[in-house]
Amino acid sequence: MTDKTALVTGASRGIGRAIAERLAADGALVAVHYGSNKAAALETVNAIETAGGQAFAVEADLARNDGVDQLIEGLGGRRLDVLVNNAAVFGPGIDATEEEFDRVFQVNVRAPFFLIQKALPLMRDGSRIINISSGVTWFAIPETVYAMTKGALNALGRSLANTLGERGITVNTIAPGITRSDMNTWLDELPGAKEGVSGITALGRPGQPADIADAVAFFAAPDSRWVTGQVLDVNGGLYLGPRAPLHH
Ligand SMILES: NC(=O)c1ccc[n+]([C@@H]2O[C@H](COP(=O)([O-])OP(=O)(O)OC[C@H]3O[C@@H](n4cnc5c(N)ncnc54)[C@H](OP(=O)(O)O)[C@@H]3O)[C@@H](O)[C@H]2O)c1
Repeated sequence: MTDKTALVTGASRGIGRAIAERLAADGALVAVHYGSNKAAALETVNAIETAGGQAFAVEADLARNDGVDQLIEGLGGRRLDVLVNNAAVFGPGIDATEEEFDRVFQVNVRAPFFLIQKALPLMRDGSRIINISSGVTWFAIPETVYAMTKGALNALGRSLANTLGERGITVNTIAPGITRSDMNTWLDELPGAKEGVSGITALGRPGQPADIADAVAFFAAPDSRWVTGQVLDVNGGLYLGPRAPLHH
């Protein structure tokens, strides 16, 4: 990906950081976006540069109405080849207040939509858009509002892929399963949680951020040129079915 520029939202931590590191290792100049955690974003930039790659940090609070404009401004007019919408917040469920509901939709849906809209003039024909959704569109969790936002992202990807095909821009969606990050500290905090997750995962462990990043790298690379409008589950075989006989 030499001479290509990638923007990864929420690249200060977790899955976004792993995606930024992977795309930089593949040769891209990476814009490492963060919301408030500057120190963590600079750690990502530092890790990329130490590994011989190129990156710079961009701040923008995507919960704010002007967050997307701030992010676009932070790109300093650079052309973009890859846009990864990864930043998101988790929760709440049916007891959500209207403010909480709006905030989760703002960060998880409104921001990616308007970021795509405002980034498109910077994107060359043949560019890549990759949205990070979740398996919670097909398995139930109590955090209904979060699940709804990810359903919206899946719909966005399919619709947009059809619209942007004439420019050769592909739009694909990755749905991680249960992956180690600050969103899932319960994996280590709750007794038996890690074993429980391993027990419902065909490959027998929770995901690592790099497991997701490597799949993103495929959608960002020339090899995926004929794939668009797809949702790919990257989850080690989560909930494929019972892993032990149902009867003796
Ligand atoms: N972890 C999982 O098991 C899992 C499963 C399925 C899907 N996903 C999806 O994968 C993506 C990454 O998740 P993760 O687990 O890596 O999350 P994470 O560790 O909680 O990191 C979230 C990232 O989003 C950024 N962010 C949060 N709120 C923001 C805001 N208001 N404005 C700007 N940036 C904001 C954070 O920036 P700061 O550091 O500045 O706060 C951080 O970089 C998300 O789309 C998530 O829904 C995760």
